[in-house]
Amino acid sequence: MEYHVPALLNECIKGLNIQPDGIYVDVTFGGGGHSGEILKRLDKGRIIAFDQDENAGKNRPVDDRFLFINQNFRFLKNNLRYHGIESINGLIADLGVSFHQFDEATRGFSFRYDADLDMRMNPSARKKAADIVNNYSEQELIRVLREFGELRQASRLASQIVRKREKSRIETTGQLADVVRGLMPALTENKNMARLFQAFRIEVNREIEFLGEMLMQAMGLLKPGGRMAVITYHSIEDRLVKNFFRTGNLEGKEEKDFYGNINTPFRLVNRKVITPGEEEIEKNPRSRSAKLRIAEKPDHH
Ligand SMILES: C[S@@+](CC[C@H](N)C(=O)[O-])C[C@H]1O[C@@H](n2cnc3c(N)ncnc32)[C@H](O)[C@@H]1O
Repeated sequence: MEYHVPALLNECIKGLNIQPDGIYVDVTFGGGGHSGEILKRLDKGRIIAFDQDENAGKNRPVDDRFLFINQNFRFLKNNLRYHGIESINGLIADLGVSFHQFDEATRGFSFRYDADLDMRMNPSARKKAADIVNNYSEQELIRVLREFGELRQASRLASQIVRKREKSRIETTGQLADVVRGLMPALTENKNMARLFQAFRIEVNREIEFLGEMLMQAMGLLKPGGRMAVITYHSIEDRLVKNFFRTGNLEGKEEKDFYGNINTPFRLVNRKVITPGEEEIEKNPRSRSAKLRIAEKPDHH
């Protein structure tokens, strides 16, 4: 089975405007689809790829211009510095989990397989989904379900989880699904279940927090004229990226200079968000929620 099918591949490559001698970073290597296409366009350039899942390392190409770093992308800047790199020409982030992670039943990302309630992208991280589901307070559960699952029934779902876990711990994806199923209308059950699982996955992997840290570091690392392409798969991430590209900060707060002009640290390469066309969605249905935004650091900075 394929490790992953890259989304919006041509759009990313075109948008990055690759310089053959440039230094590129792929912070979400996965199956290496995006990295591979970048590599093809390099001459003396280099590509540094990150993935917090060591399994992704098996997909790395054998090439002197390629380096794989098995770390969370929140350590982007430190790792580049360690390798003597102070600035980069471009960066790509293709967020979330790979098909491989999602389809590996034992890792607990999907409610379609009964497995240990795990959901760690980095298999040696400390906290699993079961720790959150069983140990968080009801208030904390509501926050996770509301913020990261955008579930309207967050408080009912949380109170049901708390009631059930008092009787016996919730240890598997199947048990979690059984606990909440009754509260979900049959018609939208799959969608809501996916959102509930997504919420716990985001919390386990601290995805929003680390994305923010990586974006801030990337802004500092990009050379003038350098570009950053980010693919998101849900609205919480997309909102963060959109606001960040617009304002240069994670709160999306517009900052004005002395003359009252709004500071715009980036030029948006595409005014509108890029999404897959019908043909791509047909070939790769999982690409349907992908949203690509590309920003350039202006030359005059
Ligand atoms: C959607 S896949 C990327 C697929 C890749 N673009 C390809 O073409 O195969 C996301 C990958 O990023 C990794 N990942 C997600 N968040 C990460 C983080 N904070 N640090 C490092 N790797 C991360 C996951 O382990 C996963 O392998």
